[in-house]
Amino acid sequence: MYKEIANPILSKMDSETMHIGAREALRMAESNPVTLKLLELFADQHKRFVDPRLNIVLAGIEFENPVMVGPGWDKPGGSEKALYALGFSGVEVGGVLPEYQSGNKKPRQFMISEDVAINHLGLNGPGVNKVVERIKKYERAKERKNLRIGINVGQNNTTEPKDSPAAFATVVRETYPYADYFTLNPLCPNVENHDIPMEDVIEEVNATMDSLGGIKPVFIKEGPDSLDQADRDIRLVKDYKLAGIVATNTTTDTEIKAKYGKRWQNQPGGLSGNDPDFRKRSTKLIAHIRKQTHGEISIIGAGGVHDWETALEKIEAGAQVIQIVTAIRGEGPAIAGKINRGLAEFMNREGIKNIGELVGFTA
Ligand SMILES: Cc1cc2nc3c(=O)[nH]c(=O)nc-3n(C[C@H](O)[C@H](O)[C@H](O)COP(=O)(O)O)c2cc1C
Repeated sequence: MYKEIANPILSKMDSETMHIGAREALRMAESNPVTLKLLELFADQHKRFVDPRLNIVLAGIEFENPVMVGPGWDKPGGSEKALYALGFSGVEVGGVLPEYQSGNKKPRQFMISEDVAINHLGLNGPGVNKVVERIKKYERAKERKNLRIGINVGQNNTTEPKDSPAAFATVVRETYPYADYFTLNPLCPNVENHDIPMEDVIEEVNATMDSLGGIKPVFIKEGPDSLDQADRDIRLVKDYKLAGIVATNTTTDTEIKAKYGKRWQNQPGGLSGNDPDFRKRSTKLIAHIRKQTHGEISIIGAGGVHDWETALEKIEAGAQVIQIVTAIRGEGPAIAGKINRGLAEFMNREGIKNIGELVGFTA
């Protein structure tokens, strides 16, 4: 019904405006226990889907199911309990930056087909203090229940390389009480590459976490377009015993963009969502990372997931947990339940007792 009725209406609106509207509606809904409960009516089959066979451990963290909301959907944070009510196991909040940043000129977020997007936001965000104001309600374990929260960490565009370690460490320090894990995102496709000294960043982030009570799992976010970069990051993960890699971010490949017409070929920004070439490239990178590391590091998979089959593709390539951003718009709020139900039914058919058995099956 969402696809038939809501989607055609939403496609007429500016994509960023409608996204902010949806996010703030969820944030308001979760502020009241009655509306939070009512939200479940928008979940698949009007009830949050739960199946213990979908429980999965990622870098020592227990997830109720493998379907998260990826960073970019809730940049400022605050709608996490609502997204959990709709069936997701967690949300990666952000990108969170030390200071407010307006990002690139609008319009900068486009649906270029029903389920493919280009965003050229340029890491807009309210800055870490505002984010903390919005997520501090999740500090108490009672509030959190099984909701998992990752923090996606970036830096402001004006940060000099020598100041990068302090910038990343600031976000980690301020959000530490609310984070189950952190993802460092040094290579946002929409900002100039500042040659971030990652070794220094990781050392500063680790020292900060040490001083606050202990190391939490740290991931590095990967783009889909460079195997060399991925191999450098695999080295970093191994050398510093980090938790793993999130693969992947959006693609900047102009050939993929050109499939959607001349207008988009040279549109700056990253393409995401249900483009088969992008999706397969992301999945291939997951399989590559899995092979290179013999399954010893954790992988979060993202890039074009929109149904249970494409979720399974990422899991079988080596991802313990998958993230979705673009398909939430195209498929609607029931998407997490639909994917989890589809995975559970597949496991019934194949006689699989836990989703973990499928991780890396085809890598
Ligand atoms: C509007 C938008 C904003 C995004 N912002 C971020 C971000 O701040 N940090 C980040 O690591 N990834 C960001 N991403 C990338 C997504 O987290 C994800 O890796 C990518 O979109 C592929 O997944 P998808 O095909 O499900 O959208 C963003 C994506 C979109 C569409």
